[in-house]
Amino acid sequence: MSDTTRLFHLFAGGVSVVIDATGTGVPRIAHWGAALLPVSPAGLAQLVTAGQPQIVSNSIDTLVPLGILPEQSTGWAGTPGITGHRDGRHFSLALELTDARVEQSPDARFADRRFVAALADVDAGLAVELVLELSDSGVLRTRATVTGTADGAYTLDGLNLALPVPLQAQEILDFTGRHVRESSAQRHDFTFGTHVKEGRRGRTGHDAALLYAVGTAGFGFRSGEVWGVQVAWSGNHRSYAERLPNGRGVVGGGELLLPGEIRLENGDGYTSPWLYASYGTGLDDLSARFHEFLRARVGYPTSPRPVVLNTWEAVYFDQDLDTLLALADRAAEVGVERFVLDDGWFHGRRDKSAGLGDWRIDEGVWPEGLDPLVSRVRALGMQFGLWFEPEMINPDSDAAREHPEWIMSPGHRLPPTARYQQVLDLANPEAFAHVLESMSALVARYDIDFIKWDHNRDLVDAGHPGAGVAGVHDQTLAFYRLVDELRARHPELEIEACSSGGARADLEVLERSDRIWASDCIDALERQRIERWTGVTVPPELIGSHVGSATAHSTKRTHDISFRAGTALFGSFGIEQNLSLASAEEIAQLTEWIALYKELRGWMHRGTVVRGDHPDPSYWLRGIVAKDRDQALYSFVAVATSVQNPPGMVRLPGLDPERTYRVAPLAPGNGILTFNHHAGPAWWTDGIELSGHALSSVGLQAPALAPEHLALVHVTTTKEGLDR
Ligand code: GLA
Repeated sequence: MSDTTRLFHLFAGGVSVVIDATGTGVPRIAHWGAALLPVSPAGLAQLVTAGQPQIVSNSIDTLVPLGILPEQSTGWAGTPGITGHRDGRHFSLALELTDARVEQSPDARFADRRFVAALADVDAGLAVELVLELSDSGVLRTRATVTGTADGAYTLDGLNLALPVPLQAQEILDFTGRHVRESSAQRHDFTFGTHVKEGRRGRTGHDAALLYAVGTAGFGFRSGEVWGVQVAWSGNHRSYAERLPNGRGVVGGGELLLPGEIRLENGDGYTSPWLYASYGTGLDDLSARFHEFLRARVGYPTSPRPVVLNTWEAVYFDQDLDTLLALADRAAEVGVERFVLDDGWFHGRRDKSAGLGDWRIDEGVWPEGLDPLVSRVRALGMQFGLWFEPEMINPDSDAAREHPEWIMSPGHRLPPTARYQQVLDLANPEAFAHVLESMSALVARYDIDFIKWDHNRDLVDAGHPGAGVAGVHDQTLAFYRLVDELRARHPELEIEACSSGGARADLEVLERSDRIWASDCIDALERQRIERWTGVTVPPELIGSHVGSATAHSTKRTHDISFRAGTALFGSFGIEQNLSLASAEEIAQLTEWIALYKELRGWMHRGTVVRGDHPDPSYWLRGIVAKDRDQALYSFVAVATSVQNPPGMVRLPGLDPERTYRVAPLAPGNGILTFNHHAGPAWWTDGIELSGHALSSVGLQAPALAPEHLALVHVTTTKEGLDR
């Protein structure tokens, strides 16, 4: 049936999505990718017909549709959208479309590009609402709600949403990682079969696929076509790419449900996480869509991202008023704007073995409460931030001793501890209220500006102990409720999402956070890589990036200040070292870097991130181009030594091809090697003027750098005007 009123073309931000909701089955996506020129309804029908495959030998006698929730009942032999059963029956669904429309989204970022379809399988006793929205910047997101419509329970085993990708997509890029080494990219061929990445850690995970992407062979930051998804969920999840011998391919995913976790009685509903998707010509293009999308959220931080001092690597658990007062004084001297007291301030917390759950000030360490510190911090003109780990409980705590029933477990045994801690069952209303009220009281008492919200272990065997049923799904929702309630009570409060570093950096947590802590590894070399990839979905101003001590605590590598600070400059800048031990020279240099950050952050934090595809893997380019393309900052980064020296021509992407720019080195970021008094290539000393077109297509000689060093260039428009 070709009812053209059931064909929808959503387009924005250089992306088109054509939805085919003709017929009676689950709607299909006929195209998701590059923007199409305006298409008439008849033209859309032709496009759909053009994409319908031929029936070949030994196949189903009718066309097998590939719905956004694929169904086995149609003959689709890949991963089904909805799996579940009613006591073993209704193992396979055949949903019928009852309504399909495009309407205004309640979220302004999607304007009127919201597609909604109503479906039902009356025999199975299920109704489904499918939503798909396209944002102003071209980010697509989709989710489904399944509701029970018959007596008795329907056990939902899984819900996967699938987006079609063309045959041209030949490679998969996804991510893995671990504590202190997040966002490690891995690439492999997109061969036939199902390629799955599962997260069963009860949190987003260090090894999460913040992007699960497929693209044309050899796609890079600036080239190739790429389609990427993220299951926006801070609990268990599943991402996959699938290619069948029938020539069809998808990327998709959904929540990974534990056995029995979702049982829908008549009237009960389950809403899946959003599956976010972005398309691009190269990863930079795909990435810019995510960044613009996040920046458009209501409540997105608009004040300049403050320079932070975090006490963790400065003092660890060794909290002492005099030491911290001295640290606050030094922090203010160098230009810090927000002082964050990390782990160690609450009852019984002398090390990691005790105290979690007892969210009141430790009277032994802080006999006068936090007042003397907070007053000094404020008197010095800084904001005050405090660390919490709200979902955790140490068995050695008053909370655990008084309420053992608050600890998540299958009921008849306790999970193994991790970092000496267990997980608080936030779906238990008493436990939820205990944490909410304790946190809220402290936020009000000290007028706290910022919370570093940590979550330091995987969930293992995580059930509701009373019922003995799996509880990760409920826990994830309760976590969102807790953040939302706290923010509603304290609207000015900012939140940093941290989970042993970067194990909680998904797009759903970013809907309610103002910063992420990308890693516990502050080694600048590791940070270059971690931020390069975490930054594909997360804009730089949300990525906490700190200058640690010269020798990194996590790797024992030593880097000079220009490499450490020049790395942090491209994020939400902070310091995490004991400034009281720093030399006068180090303090002077830090002060200079902080002044530079303050000068540049206004436009950098709204700018477009560019990464080069330099052919030499040991030489990276990292840049941010101002939104109006009036200026840009690039860093040349030698991540290792190279066989080739000098490094050759580097192209500077992202500038306006028609304008002339002046490129000049920017001190203090200078790791340049000097040979026979030649510091840098010919243009380095006096700078150079070239068109944006020449800079991006011809480039210029990159400076030779010592390994694990960087050099910065500031690119500005010249007054002379156009140089075609
Ligand atoms: C986690 C965080 C660190 C620090 C410690 C405190 O590991 O990622 O930054 O806050 O907890 O215990």
